[in-house]
Amino acid sequence: MSKKDNTFYVTTPIYYPSDSLHIGHAYTTTAADSITRYKKMQGFDTMFLTGSDEHGQKIERSAKNSNKEPKKYVDEVVKTFKELWKALDIEYDYFIRTTEKRHEQVVQKIFKKLYDKGDIYKDKYEGWYCTPCETFWAERHIGEENLCPDCNRPVEWVEEESYFFEISKYADRLLKHIEDHPEFIQPESRRNEMISFIKQGLDDLSVSRTTFDWGVPVPIDENHVIYVWIDALSNYITAIGYLTDEEMFKKYWPADLHIVGKDILRFHTIIWPIILMALDLELPKKVFGHGWLLSESGKMSKSRGNVVDPIELIDDFGVDSIRYYLLREVPFGTDGTYTTESLIQRINSDLANDLGNLLNRTVSMVEQYFNGSIPEPDELNEVDQDLINTGLQTIENVAKHMDQLKYTHALESLWNFVRRTNKYIDQTEPWILGREEGHQKRLGTVLYNLLESLRLIAIMLKPFMIETPYEIGRQIGDVEQINNAGWTALKWGKLNTNVKVSKAEPIFPRIDIEEYFDKKRKGEQEKTMSKENNINKEKLVDFETFQKLDLRVAEVLEAKKIENSNKLIKLQVSLGEEKRQLVAGIAQDYEEEELINKKIVIVANLKPATIFGVKSNGMILAASDQDKLTLITPEGPIDNGSKVK
Ligand code: MSP
Repeated sequence: MSKKDNTFYVTTPIYYPSDSLHIGHAYTTTAADSITRYKKMQGFDTMFLTGSDEHGQKIERSAKNSNKEPKKYVDEVVKTFKELWKALDIEYDYFIRTTEKRHEQVVQKIFKKLYDKGDIYKDKYEGWYCTPCETFWAERHIGEENLCPDCNRPVEWVEEESYFFEISKYADRLLKHIEDHPEFIQPESRRNEMISFIKQGLDDLSVSRTTFDWGVPVPIDENHVIYVWIDALSNYITAIGYLTDEEMFKKYWPADLHIVGKDILRFHTIIWPIILMALDLELPKKVFGHGWLLSESGKMSKSRGNVVDPIELIDDFGVDSIRYYLLREVPFGTDGTYTTESLIQRINSDLANDLGNLLNRTVSMVEQYFNGSIPEPDELNEVDQDLINTGLQTIENVAKHMDQLKYTHALESLWNFVRRTNKYIDQTEPWILGREEGHQKRLGTVLYNLLESLRLIAIMLKPFMIETPYEIGRQIGDVEQINNAGWTALKWGKLNTNVKVSKAEPIFPRIDIEEYFDKKRKGEQEKTMSKENNINKEKLVDFETFQKLDLRVAEVLEAKKIENSNKLIKLQVSLGEEKRQLVAGIAQDYEEEELINKKIVIVANLKPATIFGVKSNGMILAASDQDKLTLITPEGPIDNGSKVK
């Protein structure tokens, strides 16, 4: 039995909980949510999967840096993922975590299947490894400067025992599949990139690690954990019941659409299909690699401090404005730049001016001329017919674009209709019809047509926005119909006329850009000030506590770097009569020789500790900013052992 025709299974990448998510991740997930809502309206039984990719060295390190057990650490970060999706109104059907038991067990079975089949063998790996991308690279890919071709960071030379997946065996079959199924890799330009990558020759893939523990154990060898990409990619089948829920799996597999960023397209169009071929499973129907959402200063990254936080934007502008912007601003597939200015401009022109005004003007006129009751239409003239035709054409255009994941084009078509409808008001001049006697029927027809256009607009907006279609429905007295509407409700003349309109405040108030930035700046200042106040309050110590510290002047007699450590130096210092050994983390800022005979300040009564196997009896004082560290030394000559007060 193969997958049922009326199901539609869409996935996002599962995101790393090594950090909080930013607007780029929100971009992918909003796109997946939008296509799912659209397919659902078309009558498909949809399945929308997102989740978190929780194993691997990167996560293990992040957890360590936060002083937490990996599971506790990922639990906390994953909670913030779910909060973000809730704030963005993301309606996923299932959120998979790779630390789930079921997933882990099936990943082990997948590994075993490939091993039993003879596709996986054990060997030793020597190669160039990019830790952030968790990827090994062949010499030819890293260039002279030894940089990762994906993220441009330096790769490290690594040697370890590893299991290998012989993917080259499947290269010809994969190429043929890609050639026979032009829709498999989208957009077209990326498809060509992938083809040439395969044609360069595929190296066998290392699929296990011995250098860290935070992963799914290899079922046949307890010294290894399964390398993160086999673990991660399998989520798309474990989540829908591969080897655990036959019925559900058959219903949804193969996936109709994997949406991923261009950074991980290679994994999804080469490694993933090959794993599936080896498992004798069908390949996904389409993998779409979208472009980057950049910030003005380039790629978003925490270290550059240019990461845009979607929660902050939702708080400031509302969820529908953000969803609209993400789907409208940058054609899906190409790179684009996020700026707050362009966001505000979109809100003001498309949402406040075009859509908001249309709703407001229409509902006001129904209140003014018909006491809020929706009029019945009468005879139609040419202008009416043109409006109706544009509306009907828009329904087709939006569907056509959505079927190709052209969100921007779909919204452009829809907004052409919004603007056309605004123009209809200018053409029909209802205020003149209302002023003069004998035009009641014509006026009723005009207002009916406006309301009916708004009904169609609200329904077509449902894949993109959440609150707005509902609010339009509420104002034109048709909430229930709009909420329940599928794509088939998009026919002219279905407006409910037995009800009253309800006027409200504008749905998208205009935003004054200067005022917004001004307010933002003031808000930031206040935040910093209150933070500083809190810090100062929390950190106040009384004099007695301070006096407990025994601070002394000391002179460095010997300095020697500690083996296997980049940072630590072993010091012998003189406190006058007493000699002490200390360990100090200053090797990145001081050479051994320049420390000799230097006068420094130490905390002499700190509890002794053993660091890297070396006893340390006290601590030196140094000041540090973000990039350097400098020792505190007495300003004038003074005896060793003098007290610092
Ligand atoms: N865990 C892997 C994916 C495994 S899927 C089986 C991973 N995770 S990630 O957290 O790094 O997320 C990468 C994805 O986030 C990208 O493919 C893309 O969908 C999205 N984006 C991250 N930054 C982005 C932008 N600046 N712009 C657009 N999308 C971005 O890779």
